[in-house]
Amino acid sequence: MDTTPDAIFSTDRDGLILLGNHATETLFGYNAEEFTKISFSKILVDFDDPPSELNRIATSLNLVGERRVGRRRNGDVFPLEIIVGKMEAGNRRGYVASIRDVTQRVQIEMRLEQSRKLESIGQLAAGVAHEINTPMQYICDNVSFLQESVDDLFSLVERYSAVIESQCESASCDKVFEGIRKAREDLDIDYLAEEAPRAAKQTIAGVKQVQKIVSSMKKISHPGNDRIELADINEIIEEAITISTNEWRYVADIEVDLDKSITSIPCFSGELSQVFLNLIVNAAHAIDEAKLGLEKGTIKVSSNPLQSGVEVRIEDDGTGIPEEIRDKVFDPFFTTKEVGKGTGQGLSIVYGIVENHNGSIRIESELGLGTTFVVNLPISQEVEIESA
Ligand SMILES: Nc1ncnc2c1ncn2[C@@H]1O[C@H](COP(=O)(O)OP(=O)(O)OP(=O)(O)O)[C@@H](O)[C@H]1O
Ligand SMILES: [Mg+2]
Repeated sequence: MDTTPDAIFSTDRDGLILLGNHATETLFGYNAEEFTKISFSKILVDFDDPPSELNRIATSLNLVGERRVGRRRNGDVFPLEIIVGKMEAGNRRGYVASIRDVTQRVQIEMRLEQSRKLESIGQLAAGVAHEINTPMQYICDNVSFLQESVDDLFSLVERYSAVIESQCESASCDKVFEGIRKAREDLDIDYLAEEAPRAAKQTIAGVKQVQKIVSSMKKISHPGNDRIELADINEIIEEAITISTNEWRYVADIEVDLDKSITSIPCFSGELSQVFLNLIVNAAHAIDEAKLGLEKGTIKVSSNPLQSGVEVRIEDDGTGIPEEIRDKVFDPFFTTKEVGKGTGQGLSIVYGIVENHNGSIRIESELGLGTTFVVNLPISQEVEIESA
């Protein structure tokens, strides 16, 4: 027992520790003597009622281990997994607990989470590149046009200056005026006057569009938003729409109806972007499959305040989901799409994230008419954010 890196120890029926292996000492920092008779609530954070907590874990038959936070003697906290067994010897009862430090595993999970995010951005990358490239092309054209216009205007201004400086006398004057008139015509100043401001305006709009796409990408892929934070759900939805533009633009019009009264809610904003991104891309695919490129469909995205949370609806007029596969769509790797178009992971990721937010997701769908995914997110995590 002393050679295993897992901490294994017995407790009495009240959760007071009786006997532990070597790892209990290294893991929690107490020596064997100090460890004996210590209460379970001392080594686990928020483990306030050890007998009932231990009993609950023991009867849950959870062999993966329950994830909790451990507290070392010096006050450091770390993630752990605990499995508990009930112990009965004659009329003596107690528990045996096995605890594993999962610090490294949590780090690996965080890295996986990050690479999953980058993967979904990667899948959209070609589309995003296209979305950025289109405005870039006309921005470039416009700026060249503006450059030529400025050259032309200055050459005309030089002629005007010549008139002013020559303090023109009648005979020579006519000639100069004539030159100016001709220059105005050749340079088509009226055209420039109309087009140059328009080109400038369009350029600014294009640059803003590129900025918006880049900033949405940064927000969605940023590792920093793995923590619970207050975030504006409407903003997250808009970012997902921006990033996925190339996926829906050619198959559907998008109608966005976001309730402005929705306040920020505590959430993992990066994860929620994934949810909306997946649902929008799925909607676009379903429409594409239904309309076969003959006409455009409509994706409606709306957010509504609930009594204690937010409801987000993503509605499409695509194929609909047949009754018999409706309870399978959230399964990992379930897909009806051809190889290369879908891996069947989207909705299972969505489900996990929504569950992680204590929310729910449901499907309303009619075959041939379309599908609505309804996501409910509660605000109840407020407590967590305060204690975090
Ligand atoms: N809006 C929708 N309309 C019709 N069918 C849908 C819709 N959303 C999902 N589905 C069905 O559910 C299946 C699973 O969706 P999911 O997002 O999990 O995987 P995928 O889209 O096939 O692949 P991935 O998202 O991993 O690229 C889809 O293959 C499709 O058959
Ligand atoms: Mg999908």
